[in-house]
Amino acid sequence: MSKFDEFFLGHYGERWSALFNELQKDDQKVLREVFPEGKKWDLEPFTNISHCYYPTTDLDYTKEENQEGLRSFYYMDPGSIMAAKLLDVQPGDTVLDMCSAPGGKGLVLCEALQGEGHIDLNEPSRNRRDRLKNVIRQHVPEKFRGVVSVRGQDGLNFGMKSPDTYDRILVDAPCSGERHLIHSPAELEKWSPKRSKRLAARQYGLLTSALLALKSGGTLIYSTCSISPLENDGVLEKLKSKKGELFDFVDLSGEFISMADKTEFGRLFLPDTSGYGPLFISKIRKN
Ligand SMILES: C[S@@+](CC[C@H](N)C(=O)[O-])C[C@H]1O[C@@H](n2cnc3c(N)ncnc32)[C@H](O)[C@@H]1O
Repeated sequence: MSKFDEFFLGHYGERWSALFNELQKDDQKVLREVFPEGKKWDLEPFTNISHCYYPTTDLDYTKEENQEGLRSFYYMDPGSIMAAKLLDVQPGDTVLDMCSAPGGKGLVLCEALQGEGHIDLNEPSRNRRDRLKNVIRQHVPEKFRGVVSVRGQDGLNFGMKSPDTYDRILVDAPCSGERHLIHSPAELEKWSPKRSKRLAARQYGLLTSALLALKSGGTLIYSTCSISPLENDGVLEKLKSKKGELFDFVDLSGEFISMADKTEFGRLFLPDTSGYGPLFISKIRKN
């Protein structure tokens, strides 16, 4: 048995083989209408989330353009849409999307501002930042772009450089991404728990930086597309033990989010039970 199987069998038990099978299949994305203009689409609605539709093979709707020549749709996993929506951004907020490229969740946040407030979309990798800029150019209407800045910082810097600055922060952290990993036998062979531990240390750094950059009373979402407990609850467990006096966990409720497994500190969409994900989401409020 590979170290990968041994580790996840240890955590997920009997469920592991069904989960592994589901992870090998294509993910179930939906078409999300960006900055909707009230147009009626000949598509089957995905009723759990507003302005989302099941994809069709008839037409590539991701290329569909509105009157301004902008793309009308962005293709996303419903769990990812929820991670951004649960941040509950309001017009006028100051927002940080710390790990932003390619930008699907950032689009949800930009849309929620409705052109009022400010959002920093941050991505340190130049190539990925170029992709992010392209996504903004293709989807965000001119009249809403004035409140959007693209930045190229290491997320670790925000806590020191911009303390107590943001009302809302999304930390959609770089993670193991096992769904992609299992398609590469060579990568799977090389995998060891050390790899997940290293990523968890990096994620903890980004999360503490975000906590410092958050205003008192502000809220933060920590999300990953990992199934590793080290990168999900493990990171929050450490944050609670070292900085627990600074924040409280916020309960995540709602019809769709209840399809995700409840974990100690958040919710985890897994494809064998919900059909979506993997996507872990936890929300905290700074005291
Ligand atoms: C899971 S992806 C983000 C996906 C994105 N939020 C979306 O919805 O399209 C994580 C991103 O974090 C970026 N990243 C890696 N190290 C980082 C760091 N130290 N600070 C901020 N972002 C980082 C990666 O380049 C990658 O683009």
